[in-house]
Amino acid sequence: MKVLSVASEMFPMLKTGGLADVAGALPGALAPLGVQVRTLLPGHPKVLAALDAGAKVVAEWPLWFGGPARLLAGAAAGLDLLVLDAPHLHDRAGNPYLDANGRDWPDNAQRYAALAHAAARIGWGELKTWKPDVLHVHDWQGALVPAYLHYLGNGGNGGKKQPATVLTIHNLAFQGQFNAAVWPQLGLPDEAFSMHGLEYFGDVGFLKAGIQFADAITTVSPTYAHEIRTHRDGMGMDAMLRWRQAAVSGIVNGIDTEVWNPATDALLPARYGAQDLAPRLANKREIEKRFGLTADDSSPLICMISRLTEQKGIDLVAQHIDAIVATGARLAILGSGDAGLEAALRAGAQTHPQRVALRIGYDEPLSHLLQGGSDAILVPSRFEPCGLTQLYGLRYGCVPIVARVGGLADTVIDANDAALKAGVGTGIQFADVTAEGLLEALRRAVQLFRHQPADWLRIQRNGMAADVGWRSSAAEYAALYARLVAKESHK
Ligand code: ADP
Ligand code: GLC
Repeated sequence: MKVLSVASEMFPMLKTGGLADVAGALPGALAPLGVQVRTLLPGHPKVLAALDAGAKVVAEWPLWFGGPARLLAGAAAGLDLLVLDAPHLHDRAGNPYLDANGRDWPDNAQRYAALAHAAARIGWGELKTWKPDVLHVHDWQGALVPAYLHYLGNGGNGGKKQPATVLTIHNLAFQGQFNAAVWPQLGLPDEAFSMHGLEYFGDVGFLKAGIQFADAITTVSPTYAHEIRTHRDGMGMDAMLRWRQAAVSGIVNGIDTEVWNPATDALLPARYGAQDLAPRLANKREIEKRFGLTADDSSPLICMISRLTEQKGIDLVAQHIDAIVATGARLAILGSGDAGLEAALRAGAQTHPQRVALRIGYDEPLSHLLQGGSDAILVPSRFEPCGLTQLYGLRYGCVPIVARVGGLADTVIDANDAALKAGVGTGIQFADVTAEGLLEALRRAVQLFRHQPADWLRIQRNGMAADVGWRSSAAEYAALYARLVAKESHK
């Protein structure tokens, strides 16, 4: 089975969020199942710089969405890559989607249409020696692929066999919706600009197109797969997703358990396993020192590692810092994002310098230290397709305190009384993403941490024993690919 994964970012080369982790880890998890994955990435400077010597030019397109482009085949960090080297579109340092002022690049539609059209051509056999059976595309950036196959394949490509397509929705909040003025740049026939094609309330909808035409639509947890088909959480796409119901499923993300392993993690001052958690204390001391917090072993140190956005419930934390401190918890926050939320958190940290600390920025090593030394990690998201930081928390004995939504609901077992008696809790969940819900969860955490140390340790160990790797989810993707390919061959 040959799969071309189409992603806009990939760990360790280029990362702004969880999509990169998934794109980076899934190929390795699929390999033992007989699925060979190559990943098509845009030629961001960081991606080009990471390519091993020996990368080859495998296609040249003198005029590709407004400028010359080449397709490179090579490896980086052990990953098998195809890179769309189109300097006029992707030779821009920094965040791949935003300019230096934090605004979307004005040509994002062309930038990712170019990537999607390149994927379609690879799907039709551009490379001669390697033709994928499945195109697995991620988020709106890859979502035009099924549309190109639909409108330009099936005859328009010389009658070549079409690959099957899988669209994975990592976050329905990002839909790739563009003003209709971009239409002439996309290289699609005018008939495609219709309700049954790419038109979306007068605009062009990339994600809409993917939902319309992908053979299978997955999202990153079963609960989110359900939520996005409801009016409340469907962000305007719920009716379409209900219409495509039979094609929709949820496959929960795993994590790379080698990159994230507290027993071998070189980014931790002290390493440890589930048998002996005592070394975590040295890591906690290091966090306190680096964040300027006062050591206090009666107060759980709770970290957050997050994009600072409303999705993640950061506004709630910022607004209720005093009440959070009053529960007895301390907070160490690492994040970047919305300037207003940064300022609000900074103000909270200034009011409680010994109990609340904030580091603005994106710092992968620091995120490992926080997981390896904090007592708990707080994830109060309003919606969360999957969420990865709670999975890292489980693996590191850093107890997740999470809102009961999306993948957070699917990956954490609330340590309520029944769960504690049965010995199965792995964290704390709260149902209402409100100040009261959040504070009640923190009070429960403080109570357990301070007064029920045996239960707390049990929760940490249960989490560390939880299966957070990719094995079972990779098997679900492999089975899905196999079903689609079998169906294609019966067409
Ligand atoms: P999302 O993709 O919605 O941002 P996820 O929980 O799926 O949320 O993934 C976020 C990823 O980005 C995790 O790997 C997390 O550790 C990482 N991350 C987020 N913010 C930071 C930061 N400021 N510094 C380092 N890593 C971060
Ligand atoms: C998105 C979601 C997050 C998910 C990640 C990887 O960024 O917000 O919940 O874990 O994609 O699938």
